[in-house]
Amino acid sequence: MNIFYNEKTKSFHMKNDIVSYQFSIEQGKYLTHNYWGKAVSDNQSKSDYRYADRSFSVIPNEIKGREFSLTTLPQEFPGDNNGDYRESALSIRYKDGSFNTALEYDSFEIIEGKPGIDGLPATYISRDNEAKTLKITLVDNSKKLEVHLFYTIFENYGVITRSTEIINNNVEAIEIEKLLSASVDFDHSNFDLVQLPGAWGREREIERDKLSRGVHKLDSKRGTTSHTYQPFMALTDPDTTEHSGEVYGMHFVYSGEFVANVEVDEYRKTRMQMGISPEHFSWKLNKGDIFQAPEVVMVYSDQGLNKMSQDLHQLYQNNLIRGEHQNKERPVLINNWEGTYFDFTEDKIENMAEEAASLGIELFVLDDGWFGKRDDDLSSLGDWFEYKAKLPNGLKALAEKIKSKGLKFGLWFEPEMISEDSDLYRNHPEWVLKAKDSAPSQGRDQFVIDYSQKEARDHVLNQMKQILDDVPIDYIKWDYNRNMSELGSQNPAIRDGEVAHRFILGLYEMLENLTSTYPHILWESCSGGGGRYDPGMLHYMPQTWTSDNTDAVARLEIQTGTSMTMPISSMGSHVSAVPNHQVNRITSLKMRGDVAMAGNLGYELDVTQMNDDDKETVRNQIDFYKENRSLIQFGTFYRIISPFDSKDSTSWMIVNQAKDEALMYFYKILDRANTLSARVKFKGLQPEFLYQVNKSESCYYGDELMNKGIYIDPVVPVEGSTEPHPIGDFRSEIIKISKVTND
Ligand code: DGJ
Repeated sequence: MNIFYNEKTKSFHMKNDIVSYQFSIEQGKYLTHNYWGKAVSDNQSKSDYRYADRSFSVIPNEIKGREFSLTTLPQEFPGDNNGDYRESALSIRYKDGSFNTALEYDSFEIIEGKPGIDGLPATYISRDNEAKTLKITLVDNSKKLEVHLFYTIFENYGVITRSTEIINNNVEAIEIEKLLSASVDFDHSNFDLVQLPGAWGREREIERDKLSRGVHKLDSKRGTTSHTYQPFMALTDPDTTEHSGEVYGMHFVYSGEFVANVEVDEYRKTRMQMGISPEHFSWKLNKGDIFQAPEVVMVYSDQGLNKMSQDLHQLYQNNLIRGEHQNKERPVLINNWEGTYFDFTEDKIENMAEEAASLGIELFVLDDGWFGKRDDDLSSLGDWFEYKAKLPNGLKALAEKIKSKGLKFGLWFEPEMISEDSDLYRNHPEWVLKAKDSAPSQGRDQFVIDYSQKEARDHVLNQMKQILDDVPIDYIKWDYNRNMSELGSQNPAIRDGEVAHRFILGLYEMLENLTSTYPHILWESCSGGGGRYDPGMLHYMPQTWTSDNTDAVARLEIQTGTSMTMPISSMGSHVSAVPNHQVNRITSLKMRGDVAMAGNLGYELDVTQMNDDDKETVRNQIDFYKENRSLIQFGTFYRIISPFDSKDSTSWMIVNQAKDEALMYFYKILDRANTLSARVKFKGLQPEFLYQVNKSESCYYGDELMNKGIYIDPVVPVEGSTEPHPIGDFRSEIIKISKVTND
């Protein structure tokens, strides 16, 4: 991995063994993009901008002739109102009302390692020489503005990260109306756009469309990343598959309003961009002040989407997630939500914990309803003290009882919310997030706390700390159950255009404080399931509740879509009761377990109501999971058959680093009459290793398993028959293969 600057050609080249990224200084001052793609040799890489007179292109004032134009230049960081009519990367409004910024190249610096971004989550290096950073300075001398572009190349991944900062050296304040973090121009548009849109209960559906002309915008105006679009997009060759072809992805390390733009212009060139959404954003920058925009992870793969996912998984596992639990095996948990909802007593929780411990479960999570006077979702958010009517002996005594059964204890919070019926609201209505003179909308009968106000978030922080200092808590589920609206602050000193971003900065400040004060706690992020499952949150919380939809069939899509960007160690996946509470479907306990065992296994049902057979099944599932937990949570993940491509089946694989153990997950979703079995081909094995299937006599070489494949016919019990049959809906099987050793 290295970063080169060629003085003669005025060109930069960042490269490692996987990826190259090149740009040059054109006409002495314009930063022009050359290349992003498979690693290439560095032979005086230089700009190859095609000079030509093109009608209706405009020419910068100082340039002679008609051949150079910002209208057609592939730009590294396009400004606004200067003859580049495509989407800009920044837009500034000056005191006199003008909005023209003419940035030109000034200087560069190569930094060993990777600088952090103040107050924002970002990828980091975990050892020396793991990454190098290029810092480019652009200036607008007349406006006394300085923009820094940061590019970091990592040694082992097809990843370059980018971020931007802006410094106002003017005597007057300026208004930033838009500052994106990354912008890349491609010289063609023969791409498919892959994205992960969704909704509550249907998170991260994989959608792929041929790119057409115009601006394609994925964004969030909801205050949070949300269920609707992910801060992720990828451009692929039209013939790219999961395992072959080129992919260019962008993923935003941020949890607030974002924009992901792809524009195809009149020359069929493509501009791909990502950053904070300018929709509700404007930021006053006083003289001498700096504004830093969050990081974008740019990932390149020439081996299809699955390899892109693997690079992101590794980057996030090794260089984004932090803390004590980063590489620790995650506990099998039970969460009481779907088992009891709000309707629980101390005895009920103790009984559930007792039963859970006997099944091998390791962590009990007490979900919503333990605080204030919370019997339903109409009250008490903001009143973070125990509900004595439900927990007469108090939270601490309950936690101790649960721990005495050999379980760890976890607790649910929703710290950014406030109910109208709460002491907090009665005492501090001024802490509700709302635009001045507006009536705030309700969502799930709750308001959002204005985290841009420090006193408000500190109040919640202190309430939480009182509990965390008193009660032996090992895990926290941090929930967030509505989108923001009427963005604004009741504090007149806080400008409404800054509230959405200040909210997120406030949230990150609080998470930094809590995670460093209580490093032993395992934090799990949640937002009505996976509504805020982004790399920003992952930096503080190594796990996320993937979706409120716990139906095994629905989960096949949700977990497949989630695996596009997120590591398995971060994915909460629980077995729940049937008929399923979200879709009313009945699937076998085996299938539910087999799906949940492709993530962080948990149970979310009333275990005291299970019959002995089911308990035995659960015990076996947990034993199997524990035996294979390290492989599952930290192995290399392969999407073999996608539920988005096949209505009938889904298949995933996980292989350990040494490639001597792997799990093949196979799910038969809907059956058809009178079909022939098909072989399933493995991935990621060592061709010459001999593998044993399920500790049986059957052995195959890695190359056989990968090229020829094997038949997998999951069976289910059939009523009236003593033999299980390979027919019917909702069947599943997990096959373990292990390298045959001579001893
Ligand atoms: C939404 C979460 O996604 C659920 O798991 C549960 O914690 C509820 N909130 C509780 O209100």
